This record gives sequence, C-alpha cells and structure tokens, in this order.
Amino acid sequence: MSIHPPAQRVWWKQPIDKIEAAWIGLALIWCLILFAWMPYWHVFGKQNLSTESYKTSTTAFEKKTNDMIAKYTVRKEADGQIPVVAPPAGSNVYLAASKWAWNPILELKKGESYRLHISSLDWQHGFSLQPVNMNLQILPGYETVITLTPTQSGEFGVVCNEFCGIGHHAMLGKIYVKD
Ligand code: CUA
Repeated sequence: MSIHPPAQRVWWKQPIDKIEAAWIGLALIWCLILFAWMPYWHVFGKQNLSTESYKTSTTAFEKKTNDMIAKYTVRKEADGQIPVVAPPAGSNVYLAASKWAWNPILELKKGESYRLHISSLDWQHGFSLQPVNMNLQILPGYETVITLTPTQSGEFGVVCNEFCGIGHHAMLGKIYVKD
C-alpha cells in the first residue's frame, strides 16, 4: 500500500499527459540517434581500428616471432637484451607481449605497409601506441592483425594499458619509423 494511492487504479487506461508523451518521444529519438551513431562512428571515428583476429597458440605465435627475429635482426638494444628487427615492407610482422616486455623492437619504413600481428604469450596485455594513441586489447590464443602504414617517422612508444601484474608499469616497447 502506498501513502497516496491513486484515485484511478487502472492508470494505463488514462489518457497520456502531453509532457509525458513529449518525454517518451524525446527519449525514443535520442535512442535512435545513439543507435545510428554506433555504426557511423565505427566507420568515421578516427580512433577505431579495423582489426582482424585469428586463433593461434602461444607456442605457434612465439615461433613465428622468433623466426622473424632470427631473420631480420639488425642490432640489439638495452645492453644486447632486446633485438631490433627491420622486416621487409609488406611482410608479416610479429610483436609478442609477455610479462613484462614487448618483443622485439620494430624498425619500419615510413609510407610502407605492414601486416602487424600482435599476441600475448601469457595473459592479457594492452597495446597502446604513443603518442598516436592507437589501442588494442591483446590476449593469449588470439592474434590481432592490423595493416599498418606509418605516416610519420620517429620513435614511438608501446605502452601496456591493461594491468598485468607487478611489472605492468615497466612494460614498455618501441617502434622506430625511418624515412
Ligand atoms: Cu602488460 Cu600491463
């Protein structure tokens, strides 16, 4: 029982109030705008990437990464710890996330396209390319593939943006783009 029970109990048989109808109409229009906005923004929003995802395994992905590193390493950085790999333009490029590093460092050419495959060798990480702010969720067992064509040269940072444990804050990688 309520404190002020309605005088007319069969409320849905009452004529709808103008203001209420206006609000329902307004809410409906807004719903439709947001509904249309989702596909619109997927196509025209600059921050949304068209990615492809494929099933893989951590061992298969690690092998592909290591094969590429063995073939195209040009030098080493961080006291010889991390290989810098310059794969040929148009090729499949692999970047492996694991706690807590991105392997290897990539050296790409401006204006050339690459098929960049990213996956994790343990658990969830986040690929965040800075300062261009390109973000991808990286999971083990799946490789996320983007067709990447660098439009500016320089040094770009790869930051992990999914909390992945005690070394998360230090999980930094690098991509060089040469003219
Ligand atoms: Cu990897 Cu956070």
